[in-house]
Amino acid sequence: MDVFQIEGPVRLSGHVDVNGSKNASLPIMAAMLLAPGRSTLIGVPHLADISVFQELIAQLGCPVERQADGAGTPNATGRVGEPLLTIDATKIDNPVGPYDIVRKMRASVCILGPLLARCGRVEVSMPGGCAIGDRPIDLHLLGLRQLGAQIHLKSGYVIAEAPKGLKGASIFLGGPFGSTVLGTANVMMAATLAKGRTIIESAACEPEITDLANCLNAMGARVSGIGSPRLTIDGVSHLHPVQYRVIPDRIEAGTFMVAAAITGGQVHVGHCRLDDMMAVVDRLRNIGVSVESNGDGCVVAGTRRLEPVDITTQPYPGFPTDLQAQFMALLATADGNSIVVEKIFPDRFMHVAELNRMAANLRKEGAAVIVAGVKKLIAAPVMASDLRASAALVLAGMAAEGITTINRVYHIDRGYERIEERLNRLGAKITREEGGTV
Ligand code: EPU
Repeated sequence: MDVFQIEGPVRLSGHVDVNGSKNASLPIMAAMLLAPGRSTLIGVPHLADISVFQELIAQLGCPVERQADGAGTPNATGRVGEPLLTIDATKIDNPVGPYDIVRKMRASVCILGPLLARCGRVEVSMPGGCAIGDRPIDLHLLGLRQLGAQIHLKSGYVIAEAPKGLKGASIFLGGPFGSTVLGTANVMMAATLAKGRTIIESAACEPEITDLANCLNAMGARVSGIGSPRLTIDGVSHLHPVQYRVIPDRIEAGTFMVAAAITGGQVHVGHCRLDDMMAVVDRLRNIGVSVESNGDGCVVAGTRRLEPVDITTQPYPGFPTDLQAQFMALLATADGNSIVVEKIFPDRFMHVAELNRMAANLRKEGAAVIVAGVKKLIAAPVMASDLRASAALVLAGMAAEGITTINRVYHIDRGYERIEERLNRLGAKITREEGGTV
């Protein structure tokens, strides 16, 4: 198991390009299953989670190929090529998402909608627990049932059937924590091939859902209201294969922005869409970090002393839960008290105890954390627990005095491609070593 050794403090400077979005790529790869034939996706990042999904799609009977020539090799600015991924969904032999794959990545559940629509039957292992808390799929199932699917659970598997096809319906998809991203993806994908019109109220508005809807329309679907909480889907008889480029990863972009801020550096973050990140830019500017739009991205410049600010995570366009941990690391070094409230995953605070090991002063109160800023963080051995918590520890390690050791960095490889090489090109001092505490 790999370990990071991070020497700090450093001041980052230079240019980094953001890769394609993981959370847009995963449902879009699932959408390819709706159309018989070969589809090509541009910009799907090389990540552990994407490899797991490739494995899942391949075992359905759909060969998946990665372009070999140079894709995956970072260019001068750290951007990792324009990788091509081809999925041949000509036939689907086995519409099953087995436990062994789903347990590695719960996003596997987004094959439910497309396989049900295309094959009339699908079996997917129920996703289990997750480091960021309880993650039910009741809303996915509710939406699919309203489209006419018969669903039952057997031996830990969801079995969904619609032998006579799906039928459009009006569906309210909001839950106790607001909209659901992958639930919206599943129901929208299923509805593209349903008979008649489907309306999804309280649909997720995340840019990744917009990207999926645009991709579906490029395949011949009829989705409107894209980007709003009311999606209308007029079913069509079939979809066709597509060539489609996924959007840049706004969470990776935000992580690099915080990297510039926490090290008091100046970084040009390229290939990022600031329009998708207004809540993040707003919080950064509020604490004194300069964010200026520049070319296809922005220049982020830190300041000597940060102001505190309160943050509440919310569905898009609110502040994203996937940047909560990284911002907590940043606010830990601000000049005063901040309050961070988690409204999407109330237990997503695994990083709190680890950051406190690095001399942060964080106090958890229910689904909130009171962050009392300290003058400096101090290096310590810490443990990565989930993807974004690990990113927060890397950020803290670059700002802390001394050598921080991060165990279990496989968590970060799930969502950030060669993060240490790309940060090192900006002036970080991170080495990856084999071994470490299990
Ligand atoms: N929820 C329900 N019932 C459901 C589905 C969700 O109650 O059937 C609740 C969840 O428990 C949570 C809230 O609704 O409280 C929102 O969850 P959502 O369904 O939107 O999460 P998701 O679709 O499973 C995606 C991302 C997550 C990201 C969340 C929220 C992917 C592959 N995953 O998950 O990304 O945190 O949306 O924005 O797109 C990450 O990349 O690190 C990550 C965890």
